[in-house]
This record gives sequence, structure tokens and C-alpha cells, in this order.
Amino acid sequence: MKEYKLPMLPPSVKLETKRVLKALAGASRALAELKGYAGTIPNKHILINAVIINEAKDSSAIENIITTHDDLYKAMSGTSFNNPAAKEVVSCRSALWLGYEKVKENGILTTNMIIEIQSRIENNRAGIRKLPGTVLMNETTGETVYTPPSGEDEIRTLMSNLEKYINEDFDGIDPLIKLAVIHYQFESIHPFYDGNGRTGRIINVLYLVLKELLDSPILYLSRYLIRNKSAYYRLLQEVRSKNNWEDWIVYILTGIEETSEETLRLVKKINAEIDAMTAEIKEKLPKIYSKELIDLLFYEFYTKIRYVEEGLGVSRRTAVTYLGILEKEGFLVSEKIGKERIYQNKRLYDLVKSAN
Ligand SMILES: Nc1ncnc2c1ncn2[C@@H]1O[C@H](COP(=O)(O)OP(=O)(O)OP(=O)(O)O)[C@@H](O)[C@H]1O
Ligand SMILES: [Mg+2]
Repeated sequence: MKEYKLPMLPPSVKLETKRVLKALAGASRALAELKGYAGTIPNKHILINAVIINEAKDSSAIENIITTHDDLYKAMSGTSFNNPAAKEVVSCRSALWLGYEKVKENGILTTNMIIEIQSRIENNRAGIRKLPGTVLMNETTGETVYTPPSGEDEIRTLMSNLEKYINEDFDGIDPLIKLAVIHYQFESIHPFYDGNGRTGRIINVLYLVLKELLDSPILYLSRYLIRNKSAYYRLLQEVRSKNNWEDWIVYILTGIEETSEETLRLVKKINAEIDAMTAEIKEKLPKIYSKELIDLLFYEFYTKIRYVEEGLGVSRRTAVTYLGILEKEGFLVSEKIGKERIYQNKRLYDLVKSAN
């Protein structure tokens, strides 16, 4: 087989076809609606955390790292709970936050930042591939479908071309169309030994934030990609084999539209739950109610005695009393993990879990 040489960006074909523009209209509308609604929620951290946990779980599932929400929240809680798959998912989540903070801070997305993100996912410093031998295989037949570029120099040249395409809008192409191009190109460069898929999926959301199509990193395609997995691999390959950009771009735009709608529904539910719980605690437990308490209860899926002590500036005894009351009233469910007691916000947890 003749060796395939990955072309530089931009693609040489016209990307904005009629079908692409039609799909673009739907995706843009749905994403703008999500951005608008999310912008009205006061505590963004709650929202991001809730959405990111599902993404970290789904994104890792594509790589066959399967974990349950239950194991995951235990691993997140930083107790002595030990489960390798859940730990990997926690790394993926941490890489997402890292990337988001870097993009916010610098207003650009560079190769070095991408290297840091991948390093956080994999917990190693292997960096850009230096040794040949990486191939992409058909999952079922095991046959090699594509050999990505090898040699650090070539990979770096392609990455710097990609970096330009990401940060400079010389072509006037809509960023959502460019997102599809960037994802294809990144996966085709395949700069790392492992973790290219997960890193590429993080780049997608960072790009949306970079182009101000979202303020918070809350749109993730992993679930869509899992649901449409064989098309995902087939269409990546068809860009290469048939120059079929159109179907690939439409595929990604459709994913953005569907996922924006799903995420909007979830965000609305979370918001409604925060309001409902706030009202109930105010009514039933006016003595312990405070806005800070609600924030603590929703900050993650769980809280701890220490967080309440610190967050509300109360003594350990008071924190224990508060948590006891909240558990008795059914707002929290506690469990001892190792030496520590973790208090779960069951309603938030169930809501996020059922969205998955
Ligand atoms: N034919 C192909 N052309 C380009 N990229 C491909 C092709 N087939 C698969 N890929 C990409 O390679 C990724 C897998 O690469 P890698 O194993 O390095 O990443 P990962 O994060 O460990 O795995 P995964 O994406 O399965 O979670 C896929 O997610 C996909 O994006
Ligand atoms: Mg892998």
C-alpha cells in the first residue's frame, strides 16, 4: 500500500456546501441557546462539575475504561478508595479543568498546552511520539486502517500548522465547521502514543470556549460518538480515502446540535433542583440555611465535615450537627469510606447519573 501523507490545513475542498450550511444552522442555534441559558446560572462551577463528570466517564468508556458513577464519586472524594479505572476517569476530568484554565488565562490553544493536557490524562511525560510503530486498527478485524505520520519533526510541523489553524481565523470559515476539521486533523496526526482520542475530545470543547461559543466548558460529544461509534471511525477514514469532508462535517455538526439540546435539558434540571432544595431547606431548616451551605451541597456530589467547617466557618461539632440534620431530613446520604465519612447529595447525583 502506498504510504499516505497527511496534508496540511486548510483542506483543499470547499467545505461550506449546502448540506453543511444546513447542518451548521441547526448546530449554531442549539449551541447559542445553551450558551444563553448557562450564562444565567449563578454558580457556574456546579454546572461545569456536573457535566464534566459524565463526560470524563463517557470519554474514558470509548477507551474501554469503564467505571460506575458510584466508584467515580468515591475516587473524586480523595478518600482512600482505590479503583484504577475510576482514578483514570478522575485524571481525565482533571485534564479538562487544566485545559480550560489555560485557555481562559492565555486566550490561545497551543501545542504545548495540548501536550500538558495529554500528560495529565495519561499521568506520564512521554510527550510527542518519537518512535515509529503506532498504527490505527479496525477494532473488530484488527487490520491496520491508517498509519499516522512518524518522526517527531514531521509531527511537530503538522502540529504547528494545526495550531495556526486553531488560533488564526484567516479563512473566514465558521468555527463549528473548523472544529470538525481540527478534530479530524488532530486525530490523524495522532501525536501521542496513547490518549489521542481523549485529548482530541477535550480540544473540541476548549475550542468552543476559545471562540466564545460557550463561556463554560459544558458541551461534550463523547456520548454522541459512543452512540454513533462505527460512523465516527468510518467517516474519519473517508476524509482520507475519499476526500469526503462533507459527511464528516455534517456528522460533527449534527452531534453538536443533539448534544447541545441534551445538555440544555440537563442544565435546566440541575438548576431546578438547586432551586427546589434551596426552598425546602429554607422552609424546613431555617436555622441552618445559608446560601453558602447550598453552594457546598452542590459544589460536588458529596461533601465532607471539613468542607463544611471551612466553607461556613463553623466548628467541627457544628459541622457534624448540620450534616446530621441534613441527612436525617433526607437531603444527604452518608457513607464511611476508609476513615472518612462522605455525605452525598443524592438528588443531584441521581439526576446527573440518569442523564447518562
Ligand atoms: N481511521 C482513523 N483516522 C483518524 N483517527 C482515527 C481513526 N480511527 C480512530 N481514530 C482516532 O483515534 C482515537 C484513539 O486513539 P488513542 O488510543 O490514542 O486515544 P485514546 O484516548 O487512548 O482512545 P479512545 O479515543 O478510544 O478513548 C479515536 O478516538 C479516534 O479519534
Ligand atoms: Mg488508547
